[in-house]
Amino acid sequence: MPIVEMTRAAAHAADSKAAVANAPESSSETADFYAEVMAGLTLPVKTLPCKYFYDERGSQLFDEICELDEYYPTRTEASIMERHAKEMAALLGPDCRLVEYGSGSSTKTRILLDSAPDLAAYVPVDISRVHLHKTAEGLRRRYPQLEILPVCADYTTPFALPEPARSASRTVAYFPGSTIGNFHPRQAQFFLAQIAALCGEGGGLLIGVDLKKDPDVLHAAYNDARGVTAAFNLNVLDRINQELRGEFDLDSFAHHAFYNEELGRIEMHLVSRKDQTVGICEGAVTFSAGETIHTECSYKYSREDFASLAESAGFQVSRFWTDPSKLFSVQYLTVAPVKE
Ligand code: AVI
Repeated sequence: MPIVEMTRAAAHAADSKAAVANAPESSSETADFYAEVMAGLTLPVKTLPCKYFYDERGSQLFDEICELDEYYPTRTEASIMERHAKEMAALLGPDCRLVEYGSGSSTKTRILLDSAPDLAAYVPVDISRVHLHKTAEGLRRRYPQLEILPVCADYTTPFALPEPARSASRTVAYFPGSTIGNFHPRQAQFFLAQIAALCGEGGGLLIGVDLKKDPDVLHAAYNDARGVTAAFNLNVLDRINQELRGEFDLDSFAHHAFYNEELGRIEMHLVSRKDQTVGICEGAVTFSAGETIHTECSYKYSREDFASLAESAGFQVSRFWTDPSKLFSVQYLTVAPVKE
């Protein structure tokens, strides 16, 4: 389950916590959700953090997206992993503590684990406790010799790493899925630097990074013919309706995704089809016809751009694997030695 940093809405959300007194039922998660929604929807350019896509329905829709013909990243990344798993496992080396960020169902990890029988431990990190423990159970059955140490945490904030019973020679993080693309570049730099600090000297990061390509291919991937991506995008409004007593009419908003060439990113928006005011709990938000809610950025990188991002975060790129059409990359970064 990907979690990504928020946009400017995060800062604004702190102010909106004052509005939490009006939030429904006020579990702290619901209160945070309400504060961030109200903060984002009162910005001059309305925004919602993309981490809220992933409720149960949103996660199902995302799984469907991953199966679409148009959505090349998932199958392309899996094919790169399959082709190079042995070499990747050799880079991890014996007695490695492998830490997966946002493990979800750990599908691609199995390709790696099948080739790396001598890990000290596998540490899946995910915010969804239920998902995490279900995945850990499945992996324990498949790899009875491997120590599996699940950590339930928001991986964008610092967390403590469990010590394996067998002492680890190094720590390597695994961050597949091109979720790094859902971070704004400054946030990506900060996040990667946190990983470098966690892995420490001798450590590394195996990461999936989506590449820049023909904008038509990108456009198709985020505007699939069956409308699954549109349903995924609109689902965030339904989630607000369900969890925050929102009154969004989903037919009054349209999915809009396009490649912003200048910024090298796909942008997903929800466009208001008319002038309207929408109640959310005790609050209300007004939209004019054509106004958009910016719901997601998905940055695409050239090999060089990502190498300089990695360097700015304290890593160096040791290996770069891609597919024959150069759609996607998996890269192995090592923590750069500290300069004296
Ligand atoms: C999770 N993340 C890498 C996906 C992406 O491609 O940016 C989320 C997604 N949004 C629309 N389709 C898929």
